[in-house]
Amino acid sequence: MRPASPLTVALALVLAPACGDDKGASSDTAATESTAATQASAGSTGEGTGTTGAGADVTWYQDVRPIIASHCWTCHSQEGALSFSLEEYSAAQAWSPLMVEKIEGSEATPYYMPPFFARESASCTPALPWRDDPRLDAAEIETIRAWVDGGAAEGDPATAAEIPPWGPEVLSGDTVTTITSAGYSLAASVKEDQYRCFSLDPALAAKSWITGLQVDPGDPSVVHHVVLFSDPTGASAAKAAGEGSYSCFGGAGVPDSSVLYAWAPGGNPLEIPDGAGIPVEPGQRVVMQVHYHPTGEAATDKTGLSVRWSSQKPAREALMAIIGGVVAGQTNSSEWEDPPFLIPAGAKDHVETWRETLSVPFGDIRIWSIFPHMHLVGTSIEVTLEHQGAEACIAPLPKWDFDWQRTYVYDGTFNELPRVYDGDVMKVRCTYNNSLDNPVLAQALAVEGIDAPSDVGVGEDTLDEMCVAIVGIMY
Ligand code: HEC
Repeated sequence: MRPASPLTVALALVLAPACGDDKGASSDTAATESTAATQASAGSTGEGTGTTGAGADVTWYQDVRPIIASHCWTCHSQEGALSFSLEEYSAAQAWSPLMVEKIEGSEATPYYMPPFFARESASCTPALPWRDDPRLDAAEIETIRAWVDGGAAEGDPATAAEIPPWGPEVLSGDTVTTITSAGYSLAASVKEDQYRCFSLDPALAAKSWITGLQVDPGDPSVVHHVVLFSDPTGASAAKAAGEGSYSCFGGAGVPDSSVLYAWAPGGNPLEIPDGAGIPVEPGQRVVMQVHYHPTGEAATDKTGLSVRWSSQKPAREALMAIIGGVVAGQTNSSEWEDPPFLIPAGAKDHVETWRETLSVPFGDIRIWSIFPHMHLVGTSIEVTLEHQGAEACIAPLPKWDFDWQRTYVYDGTFNELPRVYDGDVMKVRCTYNNSLDNPVLAQALAVEGIDAPSDVGVGEDTLDEMCVAIVGIMY
């Protein structure tokens, strides 16, 4: 297929049905907290006692609290309320050994704190940094490590260092409008994760462009993550008509839809860079898929969406392209490096690679965002772009975590963004562990009452897999 304009390039790329999220295994906070407490006390009777040296001068109030405030309090505070609080010295001290482990990279989920999974490696380092990268820099990590090694001293609250500003940003601009969802109630008896799709009506009188998006979680204790989909035909309206939302286990369940933006709690708004906008026609809708993780208490959520619009055509248009396999029909696709896509039961280090030659007949097309996606068997995913035989890595996720999916956005000007040329080859390389050694899979199988893994193909169900990157392009 050789489309005639950049717009149709994008549309051709988007032809495959969009993927969504399936039911994921979630960690049990109570259980992990008690593990942490055990590890914390083990740590304090060991290396922490009687240590002298540089680390002993590093204290909570003077050195560590400002770092924790700016990198952790968005979630670990009374206000952030996504997990236990790290505001007080006593809590921070108790968690300190595990804190270092999670900051530096852990063998167990959550693999990284703060939860940001696009991480450079020896084999894969993109040319540009990421926007809103919440990670600690080397000096900050060194400070935390020295503090823990030196016994996690409190220091003097009277001379505490100043706390830098913290918390998620707010979408700004005078054309921001908020679309509220119909809301959803979870009864206390609901135990299973729920995927609800809300049909949001931008009520546009004329073609407009989205230049920014912000998810406004209603009840953060149950909103696990949110994926926004385009709904070009507006078909979601009828599906949501009865209850105000519908169950959407796979994708958005509407024709010609693509992922617009994936948001995880604590995340910043999506700022579409360089004055670009995503076009939306009157009558088109946005589907907001909310993944609810019940807590055992009744909850009523009314998650909303703030959208910044431009009524003028921006200098550049942004679109989403789907590269990879998302539906069962793609199992035998010749785009797989070695078709069919099949992850044998028990395979521990199985790789599937989607290899697509891109058609870009003219125009300067750049990649500005990437949303890599797999399900529960996946363990790592890497996206590369090959131009005239030279391969560049454009998105490394060396540890895949279904619970912390997000759209990764490059931090750079248009001219710095990776360019796509006609004939370039984009590869999505996915690694899977289809054995009971994969704790995420083991838990998902247990929920379904299954005691052994089976062969896995491409598809939209929980125990199917995907290997896909939703690539934001602009021109
Ligand atoms: C975007 C929100 C967010 C940010 C930012 C964040 N955390 Fe977390 N953290 C969580 C959530 C939620 C959990 C509970 C486990 C999960 O859901 O993955 C968690 C769990 C943890 C755990 C316990 C892991 C376990 O095994 O039980 C530690 C330790 C931790 N975080 C430390 C930190 C530190 C230190 C920072 C800052 C450097 C930080 N977190 C930043 C959301 C966040």
